[in-house]
Amino acid sequence: MTAATIINGKQISEEIREGIALEVQQLSKQGVRPGLAVVLVGDDPASHVYVRNKEKACHDLGFYSEVHRLPADSSQEEVLALVDKLNKQSSIHGILVQLPLPGHIQEKAVIDAIAVEKDVDGFHPVNVGNLVIGDDSLLPCTPAGVIELIKRTGVEISGKHAVVIGRSNIVGKPVSLLLQRENATVTMCHSRTSNMPEIAKQADILVVAIGRANMIDASYVKPGAVIIDVGMNRLENGKLAGDVDFASVKEISGPITPVPGGVGPMTITMLMKNTLLAAKRLSGIE
Ligand code: GUN
Repeated sequence: MTAATIINGKQISEEIREGIALEVQQLSKQGVRPGLAVVLVGDDPASHVYVRNKEKACHDLGFYSEVHRLPADSSQEEVLALVDKLNKQSSIHGILVQLPLPGHIQEKAVIDAIAVEKDVDGFHPVNVGNLVIGDDSLLPCTPAGVIELIKRTGVEISGKHAVVIGRSNIVGKPVSLLLQRENATVTMCHSRTSNMPEIAKQADILVVAIGRANMIDASYVKPGAVIIDVGMNRLENGKLAGDVDFASVKEISGPITPVPGGVGPMTITMLMKNTLLAAKRLSGIE
């Protein structure tokens, strides 16, 4: 068998960003500059890295950006007041509150307070509900990136059996809904599923988001299947590993994403795409 194609998320992400940059140029002629506000509460080091990456993406693409770094002991009222201000601010089209928030702040209360049309994370219950019923909505970034990567393999999704491992609100559930929207037959697996390898082995498209390093080996994989690994696990030696045992799986799979360099680079790109879309909608251009 020939070696599996490696899906190059970094390159695909760059191609999409080039398209976004062109659209930003076009929009500027109509006096619109997409604006993203990021709210970060506290000192979580990983969150600070993610937020810097978002700031950089805005800068590279010509977006307006604001980053609000609040101390860890900020009250929920202070965070809600900032969200309210950003909801009303016309230079801001997208609002992202970096998660997790410190324990004394209710994430749900903060997410619910974000204006639906500025919710570029796609986490607001109205956007989630619109996704469920198939109405237009801002799509959550990582799931949207997963679908984009599958489409770019050239493998038809319609009519295929897709298995999603993991049922989180941020990845597993929305990915399953998006795959159904693309006319796949979708099976969900999770930590309590019995016979997971047998079920996964039926998948033409396997999406893995369980948060356990290298758990999915070749015994879970049908030869030729498309493998999308959403896992991001930090190993004791400091290296990053996916949920898929890449070395063994790539010997039998079809197109497969590496970690890093697969799904990861797509998430911020989809955030930028959502912010551009929100800017167009809020300016009456689309
Ligand atoms: N923290 C980790 N991933 C995410 C994400 O996609 N959005 C937000 N807001 N916070 C996160």
